[in-house]
Amino acid sequence: MYICICNAVNESTIKAAIAKGATTLRELSAATGVATTCGKCAGEAMRILQQAGETTLQSPATANEQCFSVPTLTVVA
Ligand code: FES
Repeated sequence: MYICICNAVNESTIKAAIAKGATTLRELSAATGVATTCGKCAGEAMRILQQAGETTLQSPATANEQCFSVPTLTVVA
């Protein structure tokens, strides 16, 4: 489904940009062109971005990474 009619950006393209590391609307715009012309699609692009963030936060892999993160220890001789 097209999210941005002005720049022919669909939901799959936005999700691919998020998967590659886009975390803000500015980064999404730079990567895909979404919301760079009339801006009417900015809200929907943000919704997809937020939804992806919630999915990432609820991911078991992310929870495990947080449980097993080890603080850095500096040894002074
Ligand atoms: S619909 Fe996306 S910039 Fe116009």
